[in-house]
Amino acid sequence: MSAAPRPVFVDCDTGVDDALALAYLLSDPGVRIVGVGTVSGNVAAAQAAENTLALLTAAGVHDVPVAIGAHDARAGAFAGGAPHVHGHDGVGGTAGTPGERRPDPRDAVTLLADLVAQHPGLEVLALGPLTNLAAFVDVHPELVPALGRVTIMGGAFAHRGNITPFAEANIGHDVEAAAVVFSADWELALVPLDATMPQRLTEADADRLGAVGGAVPRALRSMLDFYLDFYLGVYGDRACALHDPLAAILLADPAAEVAARRGRVRVIEAGEERGRTVLAPAANGRHLVVDAVAGSAAERLVGGLARRAWRA
Ligand code: BDR
Ligand code: CA
Repeated sequence: MSAAPRPVFVDCDTGVDDALALAYLLSDPGVRIVGVGTVSGNVAAAQAAENTLALLTAAGVHDVPVAIGAHDARAGAFAGGAPHVHGHDGVGGTAGTPGERRPDPRDAVTLLADLVAQHPGLEVLALGPLTNLAAFVDVHPELVPALGRVTIMGGAFAHRGNITPFAEANIGHDVEAAAVVFSADWELALVPLDATMPQRLTEADADRLGAVGGAVPRALRSMLDFYLDFYLGVYGDRACALHDPLAAILLADPAAEVAARRGRVRVIEAGEERGRTVLAPAANGRHLVVDAVAGSAAERLVGGLARRAWRA
């Protein structure tokens, strides 16, 4: 008999690569998304919720609550997101009018608190700025030990940052929140640019993904066009980095072969290196930093999506 799927809460700023990550998790029989919180990052938190609801609806998933979280960072107003990377709507200009399903009336922090009470050991996958998770630590410190591992796409260690020479977007857009999250007493796995930037999805991979068939692969294929265009300017060809999908893949398969270091991560909060992540190595540290992942995330993503019979 196969084990029950592991419950997962996803906190995200649904953008193109967040959408790929959500779809990957929906296709993995070993995990079950039990709730989603959204945060401003690639787009405003409210738009990220619309994008998430559209994806879930296309997948025929109507029972996963999606709650809007923080609009502004801890120490500053939301600056408008990354329309040049993900499109004005976060999904490459493909968003339709909002569907009938509305966001959950709870905020993302309350939803996470309610869900961890129902699912002790609930794992978290954080794919956007860490504003909601830091608020969770502030408001519900007693629930921090009840969570399972928190996997975060974020940080840049030896790799150059992507919003400044030092800062990766999910950390740099809310540095103060990242500092709170790195200080909390929980098990963290960080998937930084060092691991994600070498993992690329080519245009041919995108076509194979679309050819999986069904409404979700079709929607992903069409939003990928805008994202691939952006990456043409980064890599010189139409191939995009698989940031959030790689974190989803590693959460779903903790046995994946990785080069990783343990210790304690902190974030530099002041000066020109603001937003830079630094690891103090320690063999028994509760933070795991993934430096590299063996194999092709694009293959895993396309092969993973093909496991599910998507709705037409
Ligand atoms: C991260 O920032 C966002 O643009 C992506 O969705 C990803 O989570 C990469 O730095
Ligand atoms: Ca993201």
